[in-house]
Amino acid sequence: MKRRQFVLHTTLGAAAGAAAALPLGVSAQAAAPVKVGLILSMTGPFASTGKQIEAGARLYQAEHGDTVAGRKVELLVRDDASTPDQSRRIAQEFVVNDKVAVMGGFVLTPLALAVGPVATQSRTPTIVMSAGTSSVIDASPYFIRCSFTLPQNTIGVAEWAPKNGIRSVVTLVSDYGPGIDAETAFRDRFTLNGGTVKELLRVPVRNPDFAPFLQRVRDAQPDAVFVFLPAGVGTTFMKQFVERGLDKAGIRLIATGDVTEDDILNDMGDVALGVVTSHHYSAAHPSTANQKFVAAFKKANAGKRPNYMAVAGYDGMRILYTALQRTKGQTGDALLEAMKGQTFESPRGPVLIDAQTRDIVQNVYIRRVARQDGELHNVEFEVLKSVKDPGRRK
Ligand code: DHB
Repeated sequence: MKRRQFVLHTTLGAAAGAAAALPLGVSAQAAAPVKVGLILSMTGPFASTGKQIEAGARLYQAEHGDTVAGRKVELLVRDDASTPDQSRRIAQEFVVNDKVAVMGGFVLTPLALAVGPVATQSRTPTIVMSAGTSSVIDASPYFIRCSFTLPQNTIGVAEWAPKNGIRSVVTLVSDYGPGIDAETAFRDRFTLNGGTVKELLRVPVRNPDFAPFLQRVRDAQPDAVFVFLPAGVGTTFMKQFVERGLDKAGIRLIATGDVTEDDILNDMGDVALGVVTSHHYSAAHPSTANQKFVAAFKKANAGKRPNYMAVAGYDGMRILYTALQRTKGQTGDALLEAMKGQTFESPRGPVLIDAQTRDIVQNVYIRRVARQDGELHNVEFEVLKSVKDPGRRK
């Protein structure tokens, strides 16, 4: 107790002394807020993702205060309605008018890609909190990613399936960057492990009607269908999967965890029971850090369950706070450098922001949907440790 008081006093004393010694201009600048511009889809079909990311970011601030290294961290949130042109326009406004020090967010891959050139030209450190196509990270040297990549998450189930009686598969993915990454990663890994891919199906990203595609899956009679769909879309898919009788036809469903994500899983009902997925986050991850995170998130959000998007918003803020502490409040290139190489325990498990790739390295878990404490959960039963994105071509 005594020692702590001593440390506190000397720290405060040193800070006060340093502030007094600074010329007026510098101390005024040091006190200016660090503005963080989040570009999120808050309306339209992907609004649930935007809301989860914002809620995660706000929870981190509520728990850790809004001042770091003497600077207030101010969150600005704008809705791009999942339109790349709007994401780019908002980014320009953030940089030119609001003078943000950091940008973040990006629910879908094309939205992050649209902002890459703005981040580069304005040299603004930018935290990608969703957008999971491998190549997104190459869109700007000012990007760091704290979410996931599709190849990273796909290989788990592509390894698990052939060891568990699944020899033939039809893949069904959303027809854009992350879907194509998932399709390629699954096909390559599954066939390497001796499996056969009978057909590769791609469905439209917006308002997909799964019925004709599910009919084709039925006709091909594979052991399983492997699915990737972006967060929020899984409920419609599950409904049509059952309506088309694929479960009765004995076709198993395997997927990335985007399909059974924790925000919507309870609404899917019993049809989801037994579905095996691989992913980096489950609200049922049995660590103390995660249990605390889930409880705090529910409390702050009227009982809503966090999904992996909330975790990325939360971790993104943590990376920013730690970087600001390291630079003593300095922004720009120094802040970007301080974001790289960070390693910490996230609610998802241990993570690293690889300093070379600027991408996240994390565990990928194999999970099965089960009822636990009266709720449907993705229950983890196997883990691939410290997975680096296997999908980069560079
Ligand atoms: C992307 C979006 C998602 O909602 C998701 O779950 C995975 C990837 C994307 O557009 O990159």
